[in-house]
Amino acid sequence: MSNRTFTMIKPDAMKSGHAGAILDRIIKEGYRIVALKMTRLSETKAGEFYAVHKERPFYGELVEFMSSGPVIAAILEKENAVNSFRTLIGATDPAKADEGTIRKQFAASVGENAVHGSDSDENALIEGDFFFSSLERI
Ligand code: CMP
Repeated sequence: MSNRTFTMIKPDAMKSGHAGAILDRIIKEGYRIVALKMTRLSETKAGEFYAVHKERPFYGELVEFMSSGPVIAAILEKENAVNSFRTLIGATDPAKADEGTIRKQFAASVGENAVHGSDSDENALIEGDFFFSSLERI
């Protein structure tokens, strides 16, 4: 079990001005920020990041949305980070997310769901490497 996960604040939450509140919640929940940057994904880069979903019917929509505006990418550290962070953000579909979760509070729909969180230790490493060099991890 690793103590790091990867997150992105997605374009919907950036546009609606919730990035500060989301980062504040993450810090208050005890995550240490290992790396952080604001960037914008090209369609090609968004397609690469979500390549595992290539065959899904929503892939085109997902790539278009994730490249529609800036995102904040971060590596976070806490004990049992992947699982605890997935609990904090709630279900992919905000309609199914528990009260008190980030997606319940800030997400509008299953596609535009405010934040990403890695689903395994292996993917947390891959996703962190996608955005950050070793020099950018503190
Ligand atoms: P995320 O956790 O970033 O990983 C895959 C993303 O695909 C997911 O969040 C959603 O934003 C998106 N997604 C999953 N299911 C659907 C769906 N049914 N329709 C549109 N987008 C979806």
